[in-house]
Order: sequence, then structure tokens, then C-alpha cells
Amino acid sequence: MPATVIVGAQWGDEGKGKIVDLLAQHSDLVCRYQGGPNAGHTIVVGDETYKIRQIPSGVVTGKTCIIGAGCVIDPTVFLAEVDELEARGFPTAGRVHVSGNAHVIMPWHVAIDQASERRLGKLQIGTTRRGIGPAYADKALRIGIRVQDLLDPKILRQKIEVALIEKNLWLEKVYGEPPLELGEVAGRLEEHAQRIRPYVSDTSLLVDQALRAGQSVLLEGGQGTLLDLDHGTYPFVTSSSTIAANAAAGVGMGPNKIDRVMGVAKAYVTRVGEGPFPSEIEGPDQERMREFGHEYGTVTGRNRRCGWLDLVALRYAVRVNGIDRLALTKLDVLSHFAEIPVCTRYRLPDGMETEDFPAHQSDFHAARPVYETLPGWEEPLDACVTVEDLPDEARRYVEFVERELEVEVTLIGTGADRDSVLAPYGLTALTGAA
Ligand code: IMP
Ligand code: MG
Repeated sequence: MPATVIVGAQWGDEGKGKIVDLLAQHSDLVCRYQGGPNAGHTIVVGDETYKIRQIPSGVVTGKTCIIGAGCVIDPTVFLAEVDELEARGFPTAGRVHVSGNAHVIMPWHVAIDQASERRLGKLQIGTTRRGIGPAYADKALRIGIRVQDLLDPKILRQKIEVALIEKNLWLEKVYGEPPLELGEVAGRLEEHAQRIRPYVSDTSLLVDQALRAGQSVLLEGGQGTLLDLDHGTYPFVTSSSTIAANAAAGVGMGPNKIDRVMGVAKAYVTRVGEGPFPSEIEGPDQERMREFGHEYGTVTGRNRRCGWLDLVALRYAVRVNGIDRLALTKLDVLSHFAEIPVCTRYRLPDGMETEDFPAHQSDFHAARPVYETLPGWEEPLDACVTVEDLPDEARRYVEFVERELEVEVTLIGTGADRDSVLAPYGLTALTGAA
């Protein structure tokens, strides 16, 4: 019963979409377990580029896709994505399933996310402003609206009515924003509800049936380890638990059914939004890296902050996720650099150096990167079909990462296209599919 978790090992945008797309070809079911349309996955197939936010990336391979109970879903985004996929030849009926327990991102969540970030000003988190945080907050407060509430128009209208009394007070009195109108909000949601109804399923049961039938299940994380609500760089994190252990909770399966955890890391690092970032590049290489790597947010279009590979943070990701294999993406972007610094340790304010991610925020905020500089290869990787084809320096870079982390690098990204990936150990070995 092979279940594999694919988890971002940095601050998101590691290229998980591409890795999921690749492994999905050898899997039966692809599930999202947390997050919502704050995620943005880019998949390139030939001349076609797909940017997917709400539905698991596996949809592009025509696999059964599940949005688990741990997710939040924006009906507008979901339906727009459904329409686009259908228009581009990917049927979604009977193929995309949404948990009735997933929470709905309501218009006030989006309005409050935006207003709250505006009010925080310089102290803002730099959220994607898609209502993710407010939706998860209401879930924890037990006043959220769930997907299954969409199925009953009476319950839905009642819940919207009750919620709006309070949400409009916040919008008007706390944030100075215009209130939302009951008729308008309810009308729109009721329309959406009609269209979402056929997608609502008992997704935990579907996953269980697949596992019992010996099918292979991929669990696709959104965002990344350092954006995890409990284990990330709080408060500059997302509002759900992104790490591998939450995959089981988020879809409703036993953790003992997970037998592989694949971490995905870029060969360097990026971060969007605010918060400390020790290996952030200073000087012109910052802009060069952004351009060569096309490092602009999929969801928000923001410039991503770029840094050299941070093995301290990555070692931490290996630990908190139990990563037993690593996909190293976008190695080709490093072809442009003659020398490549890699952060192997942090220097803390007391002068001590550490290989382990600081447990205390003040240490992390003040941590300075200690680099080892590896020689670059300065040649394109387009022509590489196997690991043996890589320039020596590129292979040594990968081996250096493996040695430092004590984890095998089982996939290496060498370009944007679906085929531009090297699999030293083969693909089926990664998912356990027959
Ligand atoms: P939120 O998830 O929109 O609340 O944003 C919280 C933090 O997570 C911000 O720093 C966002 O930039 C970041 N974030 C959320 N989703 C993603 C993602 O898919 N990739 C990268 N960063 C993300
Ligand atoms: Mg992304």
C-alpha cells in the first residue's frame, strides 16, 4: 500500500508541482492535505503551462484528485480552475473530489486578510491575501463554514447571516472597510454551491479504498516546511501545518500508511513575504538569480527573495518531516554562477556556530550564514539525460548536499519542462507503483 508524501523543504515554491506531476504519472490518486489557493503550482508540458492553485497538480495527468479535510477552498477559485481545466481538455467530473469537511473561504475572509495586512503596515506578514489565515482562524473558533454546509441552502443562508453580523462589525469598526451585503454574498454562494455539489465526496473513504486496493497514493503538500504553523518561522508562516505528518491528518488516514516522504528543495532558496532569511543574497546576484530562475510569485506575482542553498534549514526540514529522499529542483539556474556558496552553518550572536536550526526565534533572526563555496560548472544542463551527463562540478554539488544531509537526492531538476528531470534511481522506485 504505497503512500508517498511530497513536502516542500524550504519556504514553498520548491517546484513541488512539477515533481507531483512527474510522480503522478506512476500513481493512482493525488491528494492535497492542507492549504488553499495560496499555493501556486506551475507545470510545463510541452508548450503548455498550467498554473494550478486549488486542485492537486495530479489533475494534469488525468489522475483522481482529492482536496482533503485539512484544506480550505475558495469556491470562486475552485470553479474557475475547473472551467479552465475543462476548456483545456481535462475532465474534472468524477475525477476531482472535495472533502465535505474542508472549510470554505468566504468573501469576508479575503476582505479581512487584505484589510489586516494593510493595517499591519510594516509589520505585515506578507500573506497572499487570499483569506487563508482568517478561514483557518474561524475553523479553530468553530464558526467556520464547511463544504458540506454548501449542500443545504437553508443551513448555508443561516450561517452566512450569523457570520455577517460579526464580520461586518469587524470590517466596518476595526478596519474601516465597507460591509458585505447578505443577499449578494448568499446569492453568489448558493450559485457556487450548486456547481460544487457533484464534487463533494467522502474523501477519507476514497483514500482508504484506494490503499486497500493496492493503489498508489500521492499526498501533495502546499507551501513548505518553514511556513508550517507549528514548526516554521512563526509568525511569518501560513495558517496550516505543512509538514509530512499532517498529510495523514489532513486527508484522514493512518500515519502508518505513509511509507515514503519525499522532500522537494530548490538547489538554492527563495522566499516570498516577510520574515528572516539568513542566506538571502546581498548584491547583484540577488537580481540575477531572480531573473534566471523566473522567481516571481505564481499567485501574487511578487518578486521572490533569493538566497543560496541553506543546509541548516534543509537539515531541519529533513528532521521535522522525516524526509528520506530529496528532489533537488532548478539545478540549471546555478549554471549561471562561477562560484556557488552553500550555507552549511549559522553563526549565532554569542559567536558559536551551529549546524542545527535555532530553536529560539531571536537566535534565528540574528543568525549569520557560514558559507562553503563550491565551484560552478557554467554550462547548460539541457542535454543531460542521466546523472552521468552532468558536469563534474554539478554532480559534486549534488553529492555535497547528500553528504551534508545524509539523504539521497533521487530527483534532479534541470529545466522547466516535464522531461527535464534526472532520476538516478528510476521513477517507479519512487512511488512503489508496479
Ligand atoms: P498565507 O498563506 O496567504 O496566509 O501567507 C502566509 C505566508 O506564507 C506568506 O509569507 C506567504 O508569502 C507565504 N505563502 C503562502 N503560500 C505560499 C506558497 O504557495 N508559496 C510560497 N509562499 C507561500
Ligand atoms: Mg508556489
